[in-house]
Amino acid sequence: MKKNKNKDKSKKISIFDTTLRDGEQTPGISFPLNYKIQIAKQLDKLGVDVIEAGFPSATKGEFDAVKEISKLGLNSKICALARLVKDDVEIAMKTDCDMIHIFIPTSKIQIEHTVKKSREEIIQNAIELTEYIKNHGFKCMFSAMDATRTEIEYLKEIYKAVEDAGVDIINVPDTVGVATPFRMYELIRELRGHLKVPIDVHCHNDFGLAVANTYSAVKAGADEVQVTVNGLGERAGNASLEQVVMILHAIEGVKTNIKTEYLVETSKLVERFSGIKMPPTTPIVGENAFSHESGIHAHGVLSHTATFEPGVITPEMVGHKRRIVIGKHAGRHQIKKVLEDAGYIVDEPTLNKIVEKVKEIGDKGKKVTDLDVVSIAEVLMGELSKEERAILIDEATIITGNKITPTAVITAEVNGEKKVTSAIGVGPVDAAIKAVADLVGSNMKITEFKMDAITGGSDALAEVFVTVEEEGRSFTARGVGPDIVMASIDAVVNAVNYLIRARKRKSE
Ligand code: KIV
Ligand code: ZN
Repeated sequence: MKKNKNKDKSKKISIFDTTLRDGEQTPGISFPLNYKIQIAKQLDKLGVDVIEAGFPSATKGEFDAVKEISKLGLNSKICALARLVKDDVEIAMKTDCDMIHIFIPTSKIQIEHTVKKSREEIIQNAIELTEYIKNHGFKCMFSAMDATRTEIEYLKEIYKAVEDAGVDIINVPDTVGVATPFRMYELIRELRGHLKVPIDVHCHNDFGLAVANTYSAVKAGADEVQVTVNGLGERAGNASLEQVVMILHAIEGVKTNIKTEYLVETSKLVERFSGIKMPPTTPIVGENAFSHESGIHAHGVLSHTATFEPGVITPEMVGHKRRIVIGKHAGRHQIKKVLEDAGYIVDEPTLNKIVEKVKEIGDKGKKVTDLDVVSIAEVLMGELSKEERAILIDEATIITGNKITPTAVITAEVNGEKKVTSAIGVGPVDAAIKAVADLVGSNMKITEFKMDAITGGSDALAEVFVTVEEEGRSFTARGVGPDIVMASIDAVVNAVNYLIRARKRKSE
């Protein structure tokens, strides 16, 4: 047992990424060429050993993509997929890739219904094409498709035959995702004892076991793993690159060439290009992977991160960020600590105002993160006192919709006097800003307007920066809140209050 453990740790596991091939077989995904090139460059930056760039005989687009990627001169080796058919292999060779991955079904059900060849014929074809590929100077990988449902004796026979024919690596696909970690361990153990050639595994996630099965295969002696970014792939997908790599690095202490600090960046790129958004709870790269809700967990993490995190993995290791989500039940000391960590020491009345605002936002069912708290505090601390403010908004009604001209009606106290104004605009924010400008009736111009979500998600807090200018003087102010129109109004009102105070001071 001890010996096996040491052996695992000294061995480097090779990472074979098939995002651009099996990942592209995800229903609904078709990456255009420029996306494929950007993904390939990112995979190379991440440090994957092999990029399976496509299936050149499938379409001209696939052929062009593999050819263009092969020309990039990346450090990762470029692999092309081909059926166990000479024409497919010849097309793949024309892409100038480094490796050709040939595959043929070997399970009873797939042979009977798809290949319609005898088992002997399949072995003969596998030997001939392996030799053909090797004789043409390419590396060769052989996959016995549906290996986990193939009779073990036949599986051993075909893998041995291609090994003798000079194959560089054999792949063991769990094509329909029916393996379990124990079965996978036994299967790879048996093949390992029978073969000298390096072993690769390719696990599908039909039962949610793709990562566990891949991990088991490594424990049993596999040398390479086939994975996809974000676990994309046919049906329920393939084993996720991020999860497999971090299990190996952080839990097993097994090395790969992956620069783990680029994992989140890579996941986000593929998320954008594929249009498949990862649920926030996705391990390693999900929005919540290092988020802590208020309460015992957040309190613990604030004092020592390993209290409620695995400890062996940090957000920095994977290019992520730790976030403390401050809900409406957040304690004062938690908010105070978040502010102190951001460099703000606040007095009691200011802290009260911040806590009140956080609870108000939390009551609306919004998620408030530590970054949000800092922004809220900065806005509140930057606000003028009630006495110093020329404008105090009472009510704001904004009407917008399909075939409705966006209109804002604002009731406010302006220098102690009640006023009501209304304005129309190209959108609700524009209408609201015009109505606020009308309250003060000046030549004030908005010279800059910038809106951002502080953290991701549709319930994120909006942060609005506004610069207003009047007679050569300009003021920038911020508004923050769950509603973008109200945050915009707050930002404009804050800026205008500064401007009016400056006007007054000048005339005094
Ligand atoms: O799932 C599978 O069997 C495959 C092969 C082409 C390796 O994707
Ligand atoms: Zn597959």
